[in-house]
Amino acid sequence: MKNIKKSFGEVKAVKDGNFNLRKGEIHSLIGENGAGKSTMMKLLYGMYDIDAGAITINDEIVRNLNPKLAIEKGIGMVHQEFMLVDDLTVLENIILGFEPQRGLKIDFTKAKENVQQYIDQYGMDIQLHKKINQISVGEAQRVEIIKVLTRGANIIILDEPTAVLTPQEAKSLFKILDKLREDGKSIVFISHKLDEVMEISDRISVMRQGEYIGSVDKKDTSPRELAKMMIGREVFLNIKKKYTETGEVLLKVNDLWTSGEKEISKIRGISLEVKRGEIVGVAGIDGNGQSEFIESLVGLRKVERGQVLLENKDITNLNPKQVRQAGVTYIPEDRNTRGLNRELSIAENLIATNVDSKFSKGVILNTNKMKEYADRLAEKFDIRPRDTKIAASALSGGNAQKIVVAREVEDGGKLLIASQPTRGVDIGAIESIRSIIQEVKAKGLGVLLISADLEEVMSLSDRIVVMHEGKITGEMSADEANEENLGLLMMGGKELGEKGEDVQ
Ligand SMILES: Nc1ncnc2c1ncn2[C@@H]1O[C@H](COP(=O)(O)OP(=O)(O)OP(=O)(O)O)[C@@H](O)[C@H]1O
Ligand SMILES: [Mg+2]
Repeated sequence: MKNIKKSFGEVKAVKDGNFNLRKGEIHSLIGENGAGKSTMMKLLYGMYDIDAGAITINDEIVRNLNPKLAIEKGIGMVHQEFMLVDDLTVLENIILGFEPQRGLKIDFTKAKENVQQYIDQYGMDIQLHKKINQISVGEAQRVEIIKVLTRGANIIILDEPTAVLTPQEAKSLFKILDKLREDGKSIVFISHKLDEVMEISDRISVMRQGEYIGSVDKKDTSPRELAKMMIGREVFLNIKKKYTETGEVLLKVNDLWTSGEKEISKIRGISLEVKRGEIVGVAGIDGNGQSEFIESLVGLRKVERGQVLLENKDITNLNPKQVRQAGVTYIPEDRNTRGLNRELSIAENLIATNVDSKFSKGVILNTNKMKEYADRLAEKFDIRPRDTKIAASALSGGNAQKIVVAREVEDGGKLLIASQPTRGVDIGAIESIRSIIQEVKAKGLGVLLISADLEEVMSLSDRIVVMHEGKITGEMSADEANEENLGLLMMGGKELGEKGEDVQ
């Protein structure tokens, strides 16, 4: 891809994009939120037309790319936001649009045989008969990869594939990527996690604000150099923990029980406290009830037994609005389903929790006031682009996340529940979101932090509790915590490696 330009209206998403990919390499594409990474790769996949520049595949200049032509040219893309159809089975999703026919009917036997071949070849754990809404995110991603492979891809683009994966799932993805590379496939890997980039890549290219900055060989570079290329300055990820005096108990959870999406994610008797001025981190392998627990606190899942008290006031089973009014703000783990309305503007999303109080008179929305507020937040939280009238769907992943963080933090409240607050955001923004969370604590609020990222839990929390199969298997101060003792508790106190996996 040479001297690529692409604008969306006023927004110059790619000003001078350059990218070249060799056969049989894993090539990472990195850069800050909004740098143009997804756009570059969507152009390669033919989802948009380029405004200028040239795309050459196997020495042939390809004009007027569209996804169909891209697939014919051997390009496959796994998007940042998955594109699977929930109500269909895994198999139906994989063959969608490319169904083998037998007479007028779909030949499912043939389809299954074909797909199974790929699954076996790459040793993937996929259950073809399940519906998409019954499988884990990690499995959904393997489904996306198989889908791309069955369409004959030689170039496989993975847009932030690990953002939604646990460390264990990421490891198993990397094994698959290694095999694909051995088979001569070329892989584009987009990620904000520099340690992963350093682990998996052969080469790394960097973009900043729509421009190509450069490419380096993995063996010749370091995370520090990469961070500097991305941001244009030094970044300090290990921010200093602020110690504040903790106050009285703010949140108290007593012997809480709820149903679970799965057997292992049922909540079975959780008790926990968060004090004012304290960050309590919840560590655990995704799917061990963290989501269910949080949902039950914020009124999205019924508490079957037990109590939730905020400042000694019973808030058990209040509805989400009442919970919010009681003083709980909430950064949900999935910004797209819970955190944002993608059709609405940045401004509308920023005021969404306050529409009927601060920003309206009767049924009339005070648009000036809304704009003023939104512009101030966009500035403060560095949401790019600054134009708050544009739809949330037009934002890059990390900037969309910043809207949610900005809204919830500005909402005040007494307790902030932050679930995966830095998912999908770049290292500069991680730095700023983490210090925002520290400020929230310094103001005397309590924070309940849930993160699949152990490093994040350890660097922010004052106290850490570990969840396993819907129970708390241990608690320690952040000073006592390390990857080993947390990892052990995350596996339910069993010896490491018992399940055939490492714990990070
Ligand atoms: N369909 C669209 N309409 C309008 N603007 C868009 C559209 N797609 C992307 N943009 C804008 O183009 C710029 C680059 O976005 P892109 O999604 O390529 O960033 P990115 O590098 O993938 O960021 P992230 O790491 O946050 O995913 C952003 O400013 C974004 O808001
Ligand atoms: Mg992106």
